Amino acid sequence: MGEIKTIGLLTSGGDAPGMNAAIRAVTRTAIYHEMKVKAIYRGYKGLITGEIVEFKTQNVSNIIQQGGTILKTARCDEFKTAEGRKMAYDTLVREEIDALIVIGGDGTLTGARIFASEYDYPIVGLPGTIDNDIYGTDSTIGYDTALNTIIEAVDKIRDTASSHDRLFFIEVMGRDAGFLALNGAIASGAEAAIIPEIATEVDQLEDLIKNGFRKTKNSSIVLVAESEITGGAMHYADRVKKEYPEYDVRVVILGHIQRGGSPSAYDRILASRLGEASIEALLDGQRNILIGIDDDRIVAVPFSKAIKNDKPIDPDLMKVVKILSI
Ligand code: F6P
Repeated sequence: MGEIKTIGLLTSGGDAPGMNAAIRAVTRTAIYHEMKVKAIYRGYKGLITGEIVEFKTQNVSNIIQQGGTILKTARCDEFKTAEGRKMAYDTLVREEIDALIVIGGDGTLTGARIFASEYDYPIVGLPGTIDNDIYGTDSTIGYDTALNTIIEAVDKIRDTASSHDRLFFIEVMGRDAGFLALNGAIASGAEAAIIPEIATEVDQLEDLIKNGFRKTKNSSIVLVAESEITGGAMHYADRVKKEYPEYDVRVVILGHIQRGGSPSAYDRILASRLGEASIEALLDGQRNILIGIDDDRIVAVPFSKAIKNDKPIDPDLMKVVKILSI
């Protein structure tokens, strides 16, 4: 691999709070090491169309506290095609970009992996998604902030749930991963979390009712992970209406509110550390890796491992929800 003089930087997929802190860290570390930084707008889409601006250190001033991504983001179907990736490669050659840093979730890393192997091109990925569903890293950028948004919302819903003696199903994001629902339930003191990881093994509603979730309480909060596997919050509310009409049920779908807002201290620190480490890794000659955090240490995980493996849910966490909701 030749010397890396210019790096390209993009965010792709769903935005996540802390992406800006990562953009700042990557940009400033690269400039510190006398590299040029080319910011690519709208993810892989901007790589294909060549929407690129050179960033100086001032371009990333005053953004550490901002949610969203100043680079904008997109979900790009064209990059899934060989023609789209060829156009992206042509842009990189034309712009003299020697390596790429991509910040995003599973889809972003999958695209990076395919592109890197097709063109033998150096890429480093940073895990940026509120879903926390990336293998090889304890946490993803944005997850902690989204959890905090969830508990703030649940705290408010709890007031009205308790005033009316109601059962609330609150749907949270996660795209087939239960991390937000499960840890959101623990952090908000919810009675249960319904998550896709175990949806096919047990009827979680039956479980909930059998455990006597109304034994000591008149109101209840159940967090449901959005997913075709769980069927979402509406599905459970409909079932309760039919099967247990004695309960007064309501549904709240938290939706994209979970993606916004100023990043938490944890996410800012995580993003800053991972961003800095991504440039150091490239300088070290590493490529086609995800930079993550494991037991508070920065780790490099090969794309192949990070993408292929599903990040497991700790079953003990389900136990915690169950025990603490008696
Ligand atoms: O991957 C992040 C995420 O927020 C998922 O939790 C959710 O399923 C999805 O993105 C929503 O995507 P969109 O912004 O395209 O509606």
